[in-house]
Amino acid sequence: MRNRSITNLYDLVLSPYYDIIQSHMVPLKQRSIDFIDIKKGDTVLLFCCGTGLEIPSINDCVGDNGKIIGVDISAGMLSILEKRIQRNHWQNITLYNEDVRHFNLQKYSERKVDVGICTLGLSVIPDNLPVLENLINSVKDGGIVLVADTKISRWKFSLLHNFTSVGISYLFGSNYHLNKCSDEIIKTMKNRLKEFEIAEFLWNTYYIAYGKKSSVPIAS
Ligand SMILES: C[S@@+](CC[C@H](N)C(=O)[O-])C[C@H]1O[C@@H](n2cnc3c(N)ncnc32)[C@H](O)[C@@H]1O
Repeated sequence: MRNRSITNLYDLVLSPYYDIIQSHMVPLKQRSIDFIDIKKGDTVLLFCCGTGLEIPSINDCVGDNGKIIGVDISAGMLSILEKRIQRNHWQNITLYNEDVRHFNLQKYSERKVDVGICTLGLSVIPDNLPVLENLINSVKDGGIVLVADTKISRWKFSLLHNFTSVGISYLFGSNYHLNKCSDEIIKTMKNRLKEFEIAEFLWNTYYIAYGKKSSVPIAS
């Protein structure tokens, strides 16, 4: 799906209902934050932050002295997040209405971050490996990178689960090919990050992968 269509999909169709249709995923979003060690005072970069469903958990971790930077291409999704920020009186969140394929922290005089996260974002972006590279490059050496997304399950009896998961992902602008690309994302993370870990959920159709950015290449 091209950029304009994904922006239209989220701006015009999904944003008003997104929090309701994604409410069942909130425990998994919380779970992914529990996997990593976000510290008080950390700066966390959220690629494809959407309406910010994982922000409450992240905010608890970073505290008042920490910072969250959210980037999303859809102004509609960001406007829902802005309302959430106002309701909660959060002071430490900066939002950028940008395409993560070209997002550059330096353009906004932002320093490299302690943690970079992308949840359910890469699977809606064609040619998403450079986006993963951009996320990794935005994180300090030793900082954490976490990606959580849908994938094709390799379980023997997973035809129905794959059919359901991929079918639902089409509603969000993804497709079978992008779900398949998750294998390449996971492989790249494994090669680029130290202390790499992966956990799979929903009959292996959803993964949470994370590790620490290394200044030296990791042996595969
Ligand atoms: C399935 S939603 C995920 C939102 C949020 N991360 C979550 O887990 O609830 C995908 C999000 O990616 C955003 N998005 C898609 N392509 C993008 C791009 N190229 N740059 C920035 N955001 C993008 C959409 O606007 C949407 O908010």
